[in-house]
Amino acid sequence: CGIVGYVGGRPALSIVLDGLRRLEYRGYDSAGVAIVDDGTVLTEKKAGKLANLEKALAERNGDNIASGTTAIGHTRWATHGGPTDRNAHPHLSADGRVAVIHNGIIENFSRLRAELEATGVEFASDTDTECAAHLLAAEMRTLREAGAAAGPQLLADAMRRTVRRLEGAFTLLAVDVDVPDAVVAARRNSPLVVGRGVGENFLASDVSAFIEHTREAIELGQDQVVLITPAGIEITGFDGEPAEGKEFHIDWDAKAAEKGGYDYFMLKEIADQPDAIAETLLGRLSDRGEIILDEVRLTDQDLRDVDKVFIVACGTSYHAGMVAKYAIEHWTRIPCEVELASEFRYRDPILDRSTLVITISQSGETMDTLMALRHAKEQKARVLAICNTNGSTIPRESDAVLYTHGGPEIAVASTKAFLTQLVACYLIGLHLAQIRGVMYADEVAAVVEKLQSTPDSLRTLLGQMEDVRALARDLKTASTVLFIGRHVGYPVALEGALKLKELAYMHAEGFAAGELKHGPISLIDEGTPVVCVVPSPAGRGVMRDKVVSNIQEVRARGARTIVIAEEGDEGVRAYADHLIPVPSTPTLLAPLMTTVPLQILACEIAAARGLDVDQPRNLAKSVTVE
Ligand code: G6P
Repeated sequence: CGIVGYVGGRPALSIVLDGLRRLEYRGYDSAGVAIVDDGTVLTEKKAGKLANLEKALAERNGDNIASGTTAIGHTRWATHGGPTDRNAHPHLSADGRVAVIHNGIIENFSRLRAELEATGVEFASDTDTECAAHLLAAEMRTLREAGAAAGPQLLADAMRRTVRRLEGAFTLLAVDVDVPDAVVAARRNSPLVVGRGVGENFLASDVSAFIEHTREAIELGQDQVVLITPAGIEITGFDGEPAEGKEFHIDWDAKAAEKGGYDYFMLKEIADQPDAIAETLLGRLSDRGEIILDEVRLTDQDLRDVDKVFIVACGTSYHAGMVAKYAIEHWTRIPCEVELASEFRYRDPILDRSTLVITISQSGETMDTLMALRHAKEQKARVLAICNTNGSTIPRESDAVLYTHGGPEIAVASTKAFLTQLVACYLIGLHLAQIRGVMYADEVAAVVEKLQSTPDSLRTLLGQMEDVRALARDLKTASTVLFIGRHVGYPVALEGALKLKELAYMHAEGFAAGELKHGPISLIDEGTPVVCVVPSPAGRGVMRDKVVSNIQEVRARGARTIVIAEEGDEGVRAYADHLIPVPSTPTLLAPLMTTVPLQILACEIAAARGLDVDQPRNLAKSVTVE
């Protein structure tokens, strides 16, 4: 799931390994490198963490793997073929001359494999990627036999001929024995950026891999091939027509991608949340009291015409969408549906020009969400993206964008991205309400003011998490943890359960509190921990009372209740085995508070169980396959 390439004057191995380390957050289960040196392609690959690869590299001697100046490196998240040494990338062509690394899925791989096997090629792995290595080597041979001159152009040509035969999603990087100072890459539906250095150039899945070396980057378009040499960067379409990427300067601080004294990125990112919210809110209200989005290629009339909203997203971002539904419908009175992108994509949703499809994606590269977006666009819906990654594919293909200025999120489990996505959803809801005349400027300003006070409340809350940490140590051996909530507390319950599953590998489930009695209550046994998210008594007292009744119901059946309730709600104390008070917030905005103790709980339980908090097993930060 991470890709790095380097050409230049310096030893490439350490640069590539360092880049892979910076991409570790994306999640992976094996890693490998290929270095071109002196007429050979040297490779090393290992299942497991980078440390395994580094150990294997350290045990090598007698070759120049550490001194070659052209290299590619890969961290793999298994799709075709298990996470073994053999399936790790790079993959070599049968003649050992070409090495390829790949992200994505080559969908027509079984056909290609059969075709190659029929010509006598023997496969050394179960991966789809290996096809690309054999095809590329064959194209190199064909071109050479046709009299093409050896050199970087030959490699680029062969790559173009190869990718024209591939279906699916891919970022491919390749090196060839005879072309010592070049790396060629191709991109379709999978992320790839170029870093422009002086006398050296870089390729990577995202800029964090080379930010130490250069801040000048180029984002590639769809279906492009790029050739990097120490002297230059050349971009073409798959057909060979010259093309241009989009140049940009990376302005975030490299420190933002470091742990800064915390044990885990996740803890740092949880602590960053007040600032991330403040950044996302910065400059959003104009002097005239209007909400300002980032890139809007839609007219006010387009937005006035919206008669239905669909929110599509995956994972944690989907939970943000679930919260958004409550706010958007309440403020705008437009019907709003929320759906998992992977489901929306293969359905026949009823969409037209007056449907607004909002995609929510931290990375902007999640394949399911991207495909859902395209599905919506095909049916002429307007598409608005909420995204944390500038210049990524999803916002680029959307009609409007609201960036969550949360800064890089490194831990695989999403925290600050979630809270800033909530803020973005609130802003969009307010904007729609205002533009349609359902809310006046002063009403909007009043909500924005409440939002602006959340960073301070959050700081206070974050300072009071000692009890939650103690509770986490206590819960680390629980066999199951249930979460219940109503209204916006329901997605919070789902998010709390997801965090615990992701990080602590524990059985955890979230339920709508009212649904308990229809089935899940039978799960409750003596001592089963149940986390209960209680709505504010101020806004909708009835709802709060209903949740309190649900707490009593589970308690009566032996549950150990962990109650998250607003400060001052003394009435809940009697039913709480553990009470976690959170600062008072208007009902719709409450998830900005109530989610945070659940993030800490999951993080601390995982740490107490000795697990890898930042890179949980089997997960990837950005899932660029369907
Ligand atoms: C992966 C991550 C989740 C994330 C989801 C959606 O599964 O592990 O943490 O919520 O993708 O990612 P996105 O970048 O689209 O928000």
